[in-house]
Amino acid sequence: MYSSDQTQRLQKLSGSLFSGGAPLTGDILLKKAGGIEALRDVLRFHEYRYQILNDPLLSDFEYDSLYKQLEAIEAAHPEWVTEDSPTQRVAKGLTKDFPTVQHLVPMLSLENSYNADDLLDWDRKARELTGLAEPEYCVEPKFDGASISLIYENDRLLRGVTRGDGVAGDEITNNIRQIRSVPLSAKFSAYGIRQIEIRGEILMNKNNFAKYNQQLAEQNIPPLANPRNAAAGSLRIKDPSEVGRRNLEAFLYHISYYALLEGKSLPKELETHAGSLKLLWELGFRSPQKEKKVLQGIQAVIAYCQLFEAKRDELPYEIDGMVVKVNDIGLQDKMGMTTHHPRWAIAFKFKARQATSVLRKVEFQVGRTGSVTPVAKIDPVPISGVSVSSVSLFNEEVVREKDLKIGDTVLVERAGDVIPYIVKPLTELRTGKEEEIRFPTHCPVCHDKLVKPEEEAVWRCVNINCPAQVVERIIHFASKDAMDIRSFGDANTRKFFDLGYLKDIPGIYHLPFDKIRELEGFGEKSVTNLRTAIEASKQQPLHRLIFALGIRYVGETTAKVLAASVDHLFDFKEYSLEKLQDLEDVGPKVAGSVYQFFHNPDNVHMLEKLASLGLILQSNRSSQPAGGNLDGQTFLFTGTLTRLKRSDAEEIVEKNGGALLSGVSSKLNYLVVGEDAGSKLEKAKKIPSIKILTEEEFMSLLNI
Ligand code: IVH
Repeated sequence: MYSSDQTQRLQKLSGSLFSGGAPLTGDILLKKAGGIEALRDVLRFHEYRYQILNDPLLSDFEYDSLYKQLEAIEAAHPEWVTEDSPTQRVAKGLTKDFPTVQHLVPMLSLENSYNADDLLDWDRKARELTGLAEPEYCVEPKFDGASISLIYENDRLLRGVTRGDGVAGDEITNNIRQIRSVPLSAKFSAYGIRQIEIRGEILMNKNNFAKYNQQLAEQNIPPLANPRNAAAGSLRIKDPSEVGRRNLEAFLYHISYYALLEGKSLPKELETHAGSLKLLWELGFRSPQKEKKVLQGIQAVIAYCQLFEAKRDELPYEIDGMVVKVNDIGLQDKMGMTTHHPRWAIAFKFKARQATSVLRKVEFQVGRTGSVTPVAKIDPVPISGVSVSSVSLFNEEVVREKDLKIGDTVLVERAGDVIPYIVKPLTELRTGKEEEIRFPTHCPVCHDKLVKPEEEAVWRCVNINCPAQVVERIIHFASKDAMDIRSFGDANTRKFFDLGYLKDIPGIYHLPFDKIRELEGFGEKSVTNLRTAIEASKQQPLHRLIFALGIRYVGETTAKVLAASVDHLFDFKEYSLEKLQDLEDVGPKVAGSVYQFFHNPDNVHMLEKLASLGLILQSNRSSQPAGGNLDGQTFLFTGTLTRLKRSDAEEIVEKNGGALLSGVSSKLNYLVVGEDAGSKLEKAKKIPSIKILTEEEFMSLLNI
């Protein structure tokens, strides 16, 4: 897409648009960039580096501040705005409905194969139909998302459409424009193309899916079953700005139709499938250009499919198989299609991550907020290498909606590293002996009466001293994303709790080690490890402590916002509901919950105990650079430091959540330069996104 000359030019130009870390503004910025379209090109380039190559050259902050400058310029000169300006992804208003539109070419599906024998059969037919002894095949991943078609006309994205029934689908252009890996314009004209229809798949990657489900969980909304459903559901949201927040991605893998500009002839890239993928890649689309392989002979195809199946879990997104396509488009036309699928392609489906089992009973677990969750106990079944015997049913509504009964044969799915769930009962296998699932009226642990707040779907035990809740709160406090007390863990916490060694959170810090030492399975070494881990957790920064407290609706992100807005945790005792709501992303629900927490004398008392035990309740916000802390920032030291020991400086970075890199690359945020710095400094100067700091600047950045 960008030659190395172009990359260098744009990189250098980007650097010249900043002064002292801030972007230039207004006319000066435009002049330096070479006009508004040139400024847009700079932003498009960085969008591409981030979205398509996954190798950004600007920090998020720098990109955002430059983007804001373009926005300001366009606001002052609305007549300069173009439809494909990077600012025009911003959603305006809500969609009323999605009109139905015809696809230029019907969207067929693919024939499936499940093993090597199926592929051998298909290869035999392909050789017959092509008349070739060994046709060339292009093999690529089968992306597990929601399929779409995009139409570009005169280099501009004209519309995006869902698959629908294959003949016509829903026009969802405004939603598609929110997906930053879909270019709003692309130079198809350079290949003589006037109009083109491209097929692809919209995905939510595993990481974003997990985050999204966590957000749902924090709001007590049932999680989505898998990233495919998440992507498909997201495409049909009426609020495009919400679509933007879902962080969807697009892979484009097929050109189904094109019309050439007058007097132009077929570009040679479109003679093969691999060429089409390359053309799309060159024009800034994310196509499986790197993942695809052109192979000869079905044995090589089978081997490549198996190779991908083996590393399926390592990919950042879900794939459910591979697609094998005859590479030569002329041969594809010769082979033609049935009414359902093309003869020139076949899907090789990976082993299903579904299995059937029998639902034996339902247990009710009490969580740390008192929510009572039904958990299905099923006959153990292996699904993608893991034995599944326990599946959360989330809440009563889910059980009723799925019409589950004890004794049902159920279909269970586990998508990748996603938690297993019950897809549905196989009602046709019912014998009449199945039993209703009965929900308890009283807490299974403390036997208090359960309540169900009107606006919620879950039953709750509201006895704050219910042992089940207390132990879950301690487990959460010590967990990896909270205080990260390694070797404490679920099982140990429960054991200490049951033995009466541990009654509440402060109790973690005065465990009776003399007694623990006597327990079976506790050697001197494990006791020392446990002690060290507990002691070390006292140094955790405030945002971790806030998250660890398990305040309802306060996830990791909110905890960071809260930590960054006070000097001391007890400042929240004085915060009004209004003041809390003034904080970023804090709505009435979160504010109410935080307010309640800090106005409960028991909680304040517990925090006082923690403070006296040496935990940090002060915020270190003033000692950190803009944005809170060094989380996600990368550092490298070069030359001789004169005031700090190199190892101490590195430790400071890590303690503040930063990471150390061993070399200069576009992934580096800060190069700290001591005396006699050499080649690393020279190299870093060529990458505008790297901030170069003296030792003094580094120290003042961290308030040392
Ligand atoms: S080619 C006319 N390639 O799988 C041929 N499809 O189960 C069009 N899919 O409807 C399809 N990855 O939504 C093709 N690399 C890939 C694919 C792919 C995912 C989807 C597509 C198709 C479905 C069939």
